[in-house]
Amino acid sequence: MRLALIGFGNVAQEFARILLEKEKEWAVEYYEGFRVVAVSTRGKGSLVNPEGIDLRRALLDLHEGGSFSPENPERARVSSLDIIGLDFVDAIIETTTLDIAGGQPATDHLRSALSRGKHAITTNKGPIAFAYRDLQALAASVGKAFLFEGTVLDGAPVFNLVRENLPGCRITGFSGILNGTTNYILTRMEEGEGFAAALETAQKYGWAEADPSMDIDGWDAAVKVTALLNVLMGAGITPGDIDRQGIGGITLETVREARSRGQAIRLLCEGALVEGKPVGRVAPVHLPADHSLAKIRGTSSALTLKTDLAGELTVQIREPKIRETAYAVVADLLTVARRKR
Ligand SMILES: NC(=O)c1ccc[n+]([C@@H]2O[C@H](COP(=O)([O-])OP(=O)(O)OC[C@H]3O[C@@H](n4cnc5c(N)ncnc54)[C@H](OP(=O)(O)O)[C@@H]3O)[C@@H](O)[C@H]2O)c1
Repeated sequence: MRLALIGFGNVAQEFARILLEKEKEWAVEYYEGFRVVAVSTRGKGSLVNPEGIDLRRALLDLHEGGSFSPENPERARVSSLDIIGLDFVDAIIETTTLDIAGGQPATDHLRSALSRGKHAITTNKGPIAFAYRDLQALAASVGKAFLFEGTVLDGAPVFNLVRENLPGCRITGFSGILNGTTNYILTRMEEGEGFAAALETAQKYGWAEADPSMDIDGWDAAVKVTALLNVLMGAGITPGDIDRQGIGGITLETVREARSRGQAIRLLCEGALVEGKPVGRVAPVHLPADHSLAKIRGTSSALTLKTDLAGELTVQIREPKIRETAYAVVADLLTVARRKR
């Protein structure tokens, strides 16, 4: 399968490293294996080679010079949309920056790939929050895969779990902790650290979004709740429809008071059916300290799915790193390969 990487930041670079590690193993297991034939970025250049990009060189270029070297023979002056249109691209891996206001240009990238009969995989939640129904219908109409496991809970299975392992079940609701940055801040505050200092640490380690208000004001969580509601509960909504409150008003005093009453404050993400209609909410709530979600600490995340036939199931991921998100891309890619086989 010949792949185009649209976006080559943290996730795509880690995916490239995994591909290099596993290429021999997968070439046997999945017959022809996988070959990256094009890479595009916003400002670091693009690479094209129908025989296969030299991924080691691509990674080294970025590591040493911050962009693809002009001497790199694979360097090409082509846009992301041009790359998606190349006839030797079978599937795209879309990992561009999240646009919280409208899910672009990722939605256009995915639409363009699917309408040309190519498989589309993404870790970008924007398109799932703004255009899921359209993209899913398009994928079904052309008989190609549209997969997005990395958009919620990093590499832990959520969408694949429901699709592959809960046949016949309806998801009737969910609750979870879906934003690592705010959870890190809240649990550091439980240990006595101030809000600003905890946020600074989250930024230092690269956990916080480039604009931290996306985390603090609950927008990142609201986009994830929208994605879950759209995919798992058939809602056709966008993030503005979520009842959203961030953690900006939480002080050390509030956290201390909660602790003295045996409670922990968590930014809870919820989806439920209200009069048959899926609705979502993101808000800081006081949970009893022995509640399973109160025990989710630091950058860890968890999601409890409520189902009509299989009871409640909880998926938890402990302090995810970039490898786990890149693994979600791998899981989607191998799903496509298995379907092809
Ligand atoms: N990092 C995580 O742990 C994580 C977890 C789950 C989901 N995600 C999602 O996965 C996606 C990628 O995350 P990341 O951490 O890899 O982000 P990143 O390091 O910022 O990389 C984004 C990449 O997209 C490129 N890009 C932006 N706009 C583009 C365009 N119009 N055409 C082509 N390339 C474009 C950027 O190019 P330049 O480098 O030239 O700017 C960069 O290569 C995001 O949507 C993020 O929300 C990330």
